[in-house]
Amino acid sequence: QAKERIEALREELSKHNYNYYVLNAPTVSDFEFDIKMQELETLEKMFPQFASEDSPTQHVGSDIEKKQAKGFEQVAHRYPMLSLGNTYNIDELNDFNDRIAKLLTVPYSFSCELKFDGTAICLTYKNGILDKAVTRGDGIKGDNVIDNVLTIKSIPQRLKGSYPDEFEIRGEIFMPWDDFYRLNAEKEDNDEPAFANPRNAAAGSLKLLDSEIVAERGLDCVLYHILGENLPFSKHSEAIEAAAGWGLPISKYSEVVNTIEEVKEYIEKWDTDRKTLPFATDGIVIKVNELDSQRKLGYTAKSPRWATAYKFKPEQALTRLLSVDYQVGRTGAITPVANLEPVPLSGTIVKRASLHNKDQMDLLDIHIGDYVYVEKGGEIIPKITAIAPEKRPADASVPDWPLRCPDCGALLVRDESQAKHYCPNNTGCPTQIKSGIIHFISRKAMNILAGEATVEQLYTKGLVFSLSDLYKLTEDQLVTLDGWKEKSAQNFLESIENSKKTPFFRVLYALGIRHVGENTAKMLARHFKSIDALSSASKEELLQIDEVGEIMADSILSYFDNPVNQELIKELKEIGLQFEENEDGSGKVSDRLAGATVVVSGVFSVSREEIKAMVEANGGKNSGSVSGKTSFILAGDKPGAEKIKKAEKLGIRIVSEDEFYKMIED
Ligand code: IVH
Repeated sequence: QAKERIEALREELSKHNYNYYVLNAPTVSDFEFDIKMQELETLEKMFPQFASEDSPTQHVGSDIEKKQAKGFEQVAHRYPMLSLGNTYNIDELNDFNDRIAKLLTVPYSFSCELKFDGTAICLTYKNGILDKAVTRGDGIKGDNVIDNVLTIKSIPQRLKGSYPDEFEIRGEIFMPWDDFYRLNAEKEDNDEPAFANPRNAAAGSLKLLDSEIVAERGLDCVLYHILGENLPFSKHSEAIEAAAGWGLPISKYSEVVNTIEEVKEYIEKWDTDRKTLPFATDGIVIKVNELDSQRKLGYTAKSPRWATAYKFKPEQALTRLLSVDYQVGRTGAITPVANLEPVPLSGTIVKRASLHNKDQMDLLDIHIGDYVYVEKGGEIIPKITAIAPEKRPADASVPDWPLRCPDCGALLVRDESQAKHYCPNNTGCPTQIKSGIIHFISRKAMNILAGEATVEQLYTKGLVFSLSDLYKLTEDQLVTLDGWKEKSAQNFLESIENSKKTPFFRVLYALGIRHVGENTAKMLARHFKSIDALSSASKEELLQIDEVGEIMADSILSYFDNPVNQELIKELKEIGLQFEENEDGSGKVSDRLAGATVVVSGVFSVSREEIKAMVEANGGKNSGSVSGKTSFILAGDKPGAEKIKKAEKLGIRIVSEDEFYKMIED
């Protein structure tokens, strides 16, 4: 029995490791995972005859992509990158302390730190320059993601002050809540799967192949462990403070204390206060602060004996399900939303929760009137994780799944591949039309100055039904809108006019094709160069592009198959929108950079892609390398050190982002 259970647990935990580290899409909570891991550890201790080196208890989960050659250089870690032992029980910290007390003969103190919920990174600095940034991988070797890491503003490429010639510093790359919510809102808007929590979002972003997209994701970093030969420190806290002096980002929430009782006080304080932090923490890390003692305590196969983690249990609340609303998304997806009896949870009052889709509701066996458990897993809306069957009232009823769109009444269709129901009336359903217009005018799309309320008015007054109607609006019509004056109408018309210069990839994104997000639009524009080539592409041709799968290919084909969309594109072309890549000159806005060859390097306030598009739109040419032909280097934050050196040698001008805007100002 024990053998069977051990094998089943190993298999299950390996699968969870894969979902967590490789797919960045865990299917169970950390808590459930840790409980199963503890069970396996206990069984392996009780039945040592079934020990195995392959057991998930013996190695850390791996983030190295096995299936796909992702194109990152694999680098062996100089010191293995281990994990931490953990507990959810504050009293078990006494056992941790007792083990240490037994092994040490000298006094010791603890460094108490927040456990940042992100993805581990190992930075190597050589002579003060960032040389490598390697993910944990399987603990022995990881992926060098230095190009992506260089887009993180808090990580310096060059250190200041006096630092050791060579050292490693490890820490966590994380995504603050605000950036996480923004990214997920965008993903939801594009019908792309949202990230379950900021950790997955950070890990997923760090493994993107396009650093320009990484730069937009708002990643941040905190470093908490220095390693190297003969480093001049006797305490961990001193080493971390020194790192701050070299310009490295460290946590400002750490505290050194002398007793395990004080550790518990720190934990109690942060169990409450963490809710006010702008980023996610999943626990507290406790480390012996004296480095000699750390060395004496050493490591087990998987984790240091000198440190452990206390993890916070996810917070839950129990409340009643009052009713279910069915919302129509921009691309017609139907999302059930639970209306709950208001209940306090992690500092806010929860009234609504997402139920995702019909399968999820069936799985929960949810009834109207049920008591349900809600959790804030990091999503914008909390989720219902379980029901309390013993509390079900006699009159509880299964919610009626709608057959028709709650807005336009069209019969819903089910998309089997995604377990989602859709309103198929994309071109006639009022909710879809209005949200399609809101998407079209949004900042990352056509950047037209108007809000949702304006769109609502334009639609209700019968002025705008189709995207092309926006370009037919007149000042006389606009001044009839509530609160609009001549000036606001003129500003609006001006921004409509300006939007005609929007480059092709943004126009493509603005069309709102289901599953075609900003990044996919860029990729498609780069590949096909024009809407004509894209709209006549076969499924095979579409599938040849990296990252375009069956679902996306089908969605693109069905968009261009629809005569209403064909007509729309024809009209928008006549109006003068850009339906071709810039290269052929069609997107030109000025000749100010005519004849100039520009090398763009570093991080800008907008994506590098946009900066390059601006260079071309103003008649310039982009080049990847510095040579005698280079007219100037357009340098953002942290430009490539080699490029700057070469430019200085050749006496080539270095232009800042602001200077560049002045050069092309019109
Ligand atoms: S120290 C040898 N300190 O939590 C172990 N880890 O679950 C060194 N983490 O692998 C790790 N915040 O990715 C340490 N203040 C902190 C941390 C921290 C988050 C992560 C780290 C570690 C994981 C263990």
